[in-house]
Amino acid sequence: MANFIRAKVSALGTFTPPRLLTNADLEKMVDTSNQWIMERTGIRQRHIADKGVASSHLAVEAAKKALAARGIEGHDVEAIFVATVTPDMMFPATACLVQDRLGAKGAWGFDISAACSGFVYALQTGAKFVESGVHKKVLVIGADVMTSIIDYTDRSTCVIFGDGAGAVLIEPADDSNHLIDFIHEVDGSGGCSLYMPGGGSLNPSTHETVDKKMHFVHQEGQAVFKYAVRKMSEVSEKILHRNGFTGNDLALFVPHQANRRIIVSTAEKLGLDEDRVVINIDEFGNTTAGTIPLALESARQQGRLKKGDLVLLAAVGAGFTVGATLLRWGC
Ligand code: ACO
Repeated sequence: MANFIRAKVSALGTFTPPRLLTNADLEKMVDTSNQWIMERTGIRQRHIADKGVASSHLAVEAAKKALAARGIEGHDVEAIFVATVTPDMMFPATACLVQDRLGAKGAWGFDISAACSGFVYALQTGAKFVESGVHKKVLVIGADVMTSIIDYTDRSTCVIFGDGAGAVLIEPADDSNHLIDFIHEVDGSGGCSLYMPGGGSLNPSTHETVDKKMHFVHQEGQAVFKYAVRKMSEVSEKILHRNGFTGNDLALFVPHQANRRIIVSTAEKLGLDEDRVVINIDEFGNTTAGTIPLALESARQQGRLKKGDLVLLAAVGAGFTVGATLLRWGC
């Protein structure tokens, strides 16, 4: 039988801007309360970028940490894939800005737009270039400055989101600690439940699009919530089952951090106790493509993530996009 190349995560780095937006701050901005936000979302605070700080800046800081952890330089990287829905600008791609600032001469790359599933989509994109034998060092980054597209007079969205980034390096595996399987799904009929209507080719930026608040996130919270609760557990159970595992085999479940209630409901369906589920939404809010690497870093800092651990990543986001990755942690 042929000896297939498998891809592993060989390094992790994250970055969040230092400034905090707490529930107490939001109480002064919109008609909300710490109690409502904590009960309905589980969020206590979010990190927010200062004016002039963009997704590429967070991405570069996260990437530098991942490269330092692996002891390599920017010029060692062959490809860079950046998941983001808040690129610095429509073009060039954020991946190009990151390539330049990392000094990754010789690397190519592009951005991936899959909202909250962006990191797992980018992870698989990177892994496929490693598994095919084309590349040996690929940087996969999830980075979003969600505060740049949030209406801070809309209490139903402004309490949810924060800014942050995470990066992983993908390399060929030399043992069994590699990516095992993935499931990705898209249901475009859900596009109208979570979107930003302005600024694209359909509604180019005009005074009118600004007046109508079309450059902000529009969300039907209940519809997204119901879809996420159903799909997070569905893809998680499916990927475990088809690889001969159950929730009992998992060392760690690392879900996208959109709402504490979505995470708890999924964990219950998988039969997971709290110590095998990473929840850090209280600290960071929903950072879209940043949540999963930020959650991996939280787990690692708490000593809950070790080489060889069976880990399940799962996300649902705007699109709708759905993604799950099963892996053995590789670093
Ligand atoms: N403070 C106080 N009250 C509020 C707030 C707030 N911040 N926001 C909404 N409310 C009110 C509403 O006005 C409503 O009041 P009413 O009953 O008088 O009409 C009431 O609270 C209930 O509103 P719902 O929208 O039904 O609240 P829900 O419990 O669904 O929580 C939430 C809202 C947190 C947005 C939830 O629906 C959710 O988490 N949805 C999923 C989000 C998600 O997963 N997004 C995907 C990823 S994001 C991405 O891909 C970019």
